[in-house]
Amino acid sequence: MANISPLLSLIAILLSSIMINHLPVASSKQWCVSKQTAKDEQLEDNINFACSNGIDCRPILPSGACFKPNTTISHASYLMNDYYQSHGRTNEACLFYFPNSGILTSTDPSYNQCIYK
Ligand SMILES: *[C@@H]1O[C@H](CO)[C@@H](O)[C@H](O)[C@H]1NC(C)=O
Repeated sequence: MANISPLLSLIAILLSSIMINHLPVASSKQWCVSKQTAKDEQLEDNINFACSNGIDCRPILPSGACFKPNTTISHASYLMNDYYQSHGRTNEACLFYFPNSGILTSTDPSYNQCIYK
């Protein structure tokens, strides 16, 4: 037994390092979305801000992949994130330009055909 134990330890170490190497790597990507507490008025301002600053707003039109759910908070989230992703992913691009209404998350908000950048 005394001779087997180091071998078992070695096997255990090898197995655990193999398992660790195969764990999904935690992504550090962040998305900018609407705060649940954001006011609709502010979210509408955010939508207008994004649409007049180079963001493609077609995905939130009735024919677009992100139209449903047809809510201001959902539409704003999609566009705010697009703005954030295409403006250097700085905290400022989410928190300053979308005051009291933008929040960063590390959970991908994509759903169905609506793919967040
Ligand atoms: C989407 O929501 C707006 C605002 O509530 C409403 O005026 C519009 O009729 C809705 N459109 C559809 C296609 O449900």
